[in-house]
Amino acid sequence: MDTGNLLDIIQHRRSVRVYKTGKVTDQQLNTILEAARWAPSGANTQPWEFVVTRDRKKMKKVREIYSNEWRDRKKEDPVHYKGLKKDYVGDVSVLALACGDARTKQVYLTTRQTSDREKLFQASIANSVQQMMLAAASMNLGTVWVSVREEVEPELRELFKVPDELRLLWVMPIGHASSWPKAKPRRPIAAFTHYEVYDRKKLRQDSDIHAWPKN
Ligand SMILES: Cc1cc2nc3c(=O)[nH]c(=O)nc-3n(C[C@H](O)[C@H](O)[C@H](O)COP(=O)(O)O)c2cc1C
Repeated sequence: MDTGNLLDIIQHRRSVRVYKTGKVTDQQLNTILEAARWAPSGANTQPWEFVVTRDRKKMKKVREIYSNEWRDRKKEDPVHYKGLKKDYVGDVSVLALACGDARTKQVYLTTRQTSDREKLFQASIANSVQQMMLAAASMNLGTVWVSVREEVEPELRELFKVPDELRLLWVMPIGHASSWPKAKPRRPIAAFTHYEVYDRKKLRQDSDIHAWPKN
């Protein structure tokens, strides 16, 4: 066990948005999926399912789907829409779609409220994604968490034949970073940690929240 090494990997991980050519080997991909396998999950339901592709044609189509969304949103609101084009979803060694089987929510027997079940479900899948990202970072491979908004979901679902029983939550490129990005600022531990009771002096003002995100 080596906490220092783990923290090094955690701090090394970045969201990589520009990739260079170079293969993620099958062995590397397997290590990444093995990391997902060991994620904690609500009631050990292991709700994750990953659709993984190396197919350039499919990736090109994914890029087109995201570009169309970007173009439509920009057209709707040219002044305020600040979304960036997500070309990185189409230019990478491996693209993984993080899905989850929503039927697993039925076995959270002691959890009654729909929103509580949803929390367990999404958190479990997010854990597996995060573990994959750390495993990738440990091999100096880049990843980035890409949201799947309702505007793009139906087309992605159709392209990858994702069954109705599954939710399609995130897309994750995995590949070799063109250059390793610089770390983004992080809040200090003291700013978000409260001992014994919540320290209201630390409650952020709306203006602090809106000044975020910092690049
Ligand atoms: C739930 C979630 C959704 C995200 N969605 C996107 C996204 O759609 N596109 C993107 O480029 N980055 C996305 N990110 C990555 C964040 O922007 C990134 O993690 C954050 O800016 C910190 O940078 P770092 O990952 O390099 O430390 C997402 C991250 C999370 C956790």
